[in-house]
Amino acid sequence: MIINETLKVIKQRRSVRSYKGEQIEEEELQAILEAGLYAPNAGDQAWHFTVVQDRGLLDKLNLAAKEAARQTDMKHLRELGSNEKFHCLYNASTLIIVTGDERSPIPLDADCAAATQNLLIAAESVGLGSCWIFFVLMAFDSPQGPELRKELKIPDGYRPYSSAVFGYKKGASAKAPERKPNLITCIR
Ligand SMILES: Cc1cc2nc3c(=O)[nH]c(=O)nc-3n(C[C@H](O)[C@H](O)[C@H](O)COP(=O)(O)O)c2cc1C
Repeated sequence: MIINETLKVIKQRRSVRSYKGEQIEEEELQAILEAGLYAPNAGDQAWHFTVVQDRGLLDKLNLAAKEAARQTDMKHLRELGSNEKFHCLYNASTLIIVTGDERSPIPLDADCAAATQNLLIAAESVGLGSCWIFFVLMAFDSPQGPELRKELKIPDGYRPYSSAVFGYKKGASAKAPERKPNLITCIR
């Protein structure tokens, strides 16, 4: 089995849901963003990365997302939306929202997902914790959605596709569970 740094980092990455309070270093943030920008993309870089490090805005996004979650027909989301202790960004110090240009003729789900995965792998490689966050995107469907878009300076015509939080891990991550069998077929 080949083992190298890249493969180790990929296997080591886990979703982190508990963070220390301090902000990440600027050079760590820049390294993560650079990795995102170099992801494969079908839409000719028709994406945009919005970094949010303002505590007030992070908390506002959390509240708006929880409000929207309470209106859904999914019990699990409604419960999280009503749980006072739940912070959908886990109090992480940095959130990156990946948006895609809605005018692109190419569907951008895959482009934004590939970029997000690059962000997570890069974060792990520089010793940061991260977690992909769908939940917070519900904030954009809440009544505060338009106001939040403005405050976040999301470019006109761009739609939020994915997001992830980053910060210093509080405690060690559990080892990844064993991978399920029969997930691979090789035809040779
Ligand atoms: C599209 C997508 C959306 C996700 N949204 C959330 C989320 O809103 N909140 C959360 O805590 N984790 C979220 N996750 C993280 C998954 O729960 C996590 O990746 C999965 O449980 C596997 O665990 P691991 O990342 O530690 O390997 C999301 C992951 C993906 C790929």
